[in-house]
Amino acid sequence: MTIPLYDRAAEAARYIASKAERFRPRMAVVLGSGLGGVADAVCDGVEIPYEDIPFFVNSTVEGHAGRLIIGECGGVDALAMKGRFHFYEGYSMEEITLPVRVFSLMGVRTLILTNAAGGTSAHLQPGSLMIITDHINLMGDNPLRGPNDERFGPRFPDMTTAYTPACIAAAHEAARSLGIVLAEGVYLALRGPSYETPAEVRMMRDLGGNALGMSTVPEAIVARHCGMKVLAFSCITNTAAGLGQEEINHNEVMETGERAGRQLSELILKLIPRLAAMDGGAED
Ligand code: HPA
Repeated sequence: MTIPLYDRAAEAARYIASKAERFRPRMAVVLGSGLGGVADAVCDGVEIPYEDIPFFVNSTVEGHAGRLIIGECGGVDALAMKGRFHFYEGYSMEEITLPVRVFSLMGVRTLILTNAAGGTSAHLQPGSLMIITDHINLMGDNPLRGPNDERFGPRFPDMTTAYTPACIAAAHEAARSLGIVLAEGVYLALRGPSYETPAEVRMMRDLGGNALGMSTVPEAIVARHCGMKVLAFSCITNTAAGLGQEEINHNEVMETGERAGRQLSELILKLIPRLAAMDGGAED
């Protein structure tokens, strides 16, 4: 018999808490490639390989190390996921979003998501940073499909403000103070793992997708279902297929991600204490 999702999440939460009893994280960050700077800034931390955590799957993608880091970041207790699970790896939506539910049970109230994405707009060039204001889910699945457990959230969660406006405003303010150019746009999520064809890219651009990627949306949906605030960033690693001169190469995507990731790490480190200070009030 399969163990109910809530019980699996609760067991994982208990395990993590038992390894890091000193910390009460209210903030979690999912680090895409190149965001090691955020992980390095976590002081005094505890690192747990995903394979040790009950019911966590393993990250199989090259360049995505699989470790959970818990510690203090800018004076705030925080969790960081170094490496995430992707739908294209063959895992179910439930498996790839389990960490978000675990964080929710541990008391996390704000989730910061990051990803690498292809840009479809002129203002999004390789190396650009984009804050996600909304998304389009073209993954052909939804992590909330199936029986709903009301202990996590309601059957039909509202997604009008999937990405919390007050957090977006705080991110713009932090970017300005650091002199970082932060674009805004809509993230369009696909299954992958093949990149898009030029015809698909033109279609998705016309549908309103400014950045194309293969992650983030399932985690954002589950986080909203759990009532968390969500903030998400795309590192634009390439111009989407057919819009530039080059073919898309995963190694180049990773390299550009590393470069843009350094700026994003700086921004996230500035933001963590500010978001923590905003926390505790009503949902906005
Ligand atoms: N398309 C989809 N996902 C991506 C891309 C892209 O161009 N670049 C990085 N992740």
